[in-house]
Amino acid sequence: MKPDWKTIRRPIIGLSPMAEMTDSPFCRVVKSLSSPIIFREMVSADALVHGNEKTLKMLDIHDEERPLVQQIFGRDPEIMAQAAKIVMARQNPEFIDLNMGCPAKKLTGNFHGCALMKDPELAAAIVKAVKAAVDVPVSVKTRTGWSDKKEILEFAQVLEQAGADLITIHGRTKKQAYAGRADWDIIRRVKELVSLPVLANGDITSPELAQKALDQTKADGILIARGALGNPWIFQQVADFLSGQPIKEVSLAERIRVAKMHARLHVEHYGPNSMVTFRKHLVNYFKGVPGVKIFRQQLVQVKTLEELDQILNQL
Ligand SMILES: Cc1cc2nc3c(=O)[nH]c(=O)nc-3n(C[C@H](O)[C@H](O)[C@H](O)COP(=O)(O)O)c2cc1C
Repeated sequence: MKPDWKTIRRPIIGLSPMAEMTDSPFCRVVKSLSSPIIFREMVSADALVHGNEKTLKMLDIHDEERPLVQQIFGRDPEIMAQAAKIVMARQNPEFIDLNMGCPAKKLTGNFHGCALMKDPELAAAIVKAVKAAVDVPVSVKTRTGWSDKKEILEFAQVLEQAGADLITIHGRTKKQAYAGRADWDIIRRVKELVSLPVLANGDITSPELAQKALDQTKADGILIARGALGNPWIFQQVADFLSGQPIKEVSLAERIRVAKMHARLHVEHYGPNSMVTFRKHLVNYFKGVPGVKIFRQQLVQVKTLEELDQILNQL
């Protein structure tokens, strides 16, 4: 049976999409430790339709990542529909997600991402076009508004009427970007207003906060983004906490094991010169770990897997 958002087990716990972070190697690391739903990083609909090789490669998938949500961004309903078909043909994800929340100028300047909140009619047209193009559930990830958090109350209803199968709400406006705290109360108001499933997102960085966000928003589930960087164990910890089990601390040996495994998958995926783009993950894995500070300089300059092994073996 094909998974769908209405019947999937509650609470839904997922890895939130992060550009240049939630790629196939990182998602496989996460799935080797527990089983959240994976939202892969956004890909450009325009670039997919133009056949951009680098963007097409971003759709590479290994079966252990499934069930998988692939996110696309763009503003033209026809191009979004074509891109969704390309995603289905090449990757065959279980779900498609539409980015209507990214605040980056690079996207909003082209009326992509969160800018779509300013034109609900266009947002609805995109949902309808993509729904008509694919036979998997189509969701939207968005924010509480462009400049006012109450915008989401209207916007969510528009998305529901257009046929969206689920919405994820990051509890901040575009104007806030990442400042202040995510507002979980407004997510609860949306949940009371619509009948489609809602995922809460923003500032969920621990099992305790996961429980609190679920209680406060009454959402169908949560997505965790920054809290999973350098911390892919968080999903098992959340699952344990929610089911009343003790939370397992992550030992230094386990941290080293997983960092090495991730590095190997990264290099296999991107090629032998790709340690440069792995350094950001290394910094995250060892941030604040006692005794690591003196190796930090070496970690941010590491060039090969062998060098990485040598540094980590000293820890
Ligand atoms: C490095 C980075 C990249 C992101 N890329 C995406 C993306 O590709 N698509 C998207 O919808 N949100 C993206 N986000 C937003 C996150 O998915 C999430 O909504 C936001 O970080 C709030 O959740 P958090 O407090 O758990 O981090 C990104 C966030 C970060 C930090």
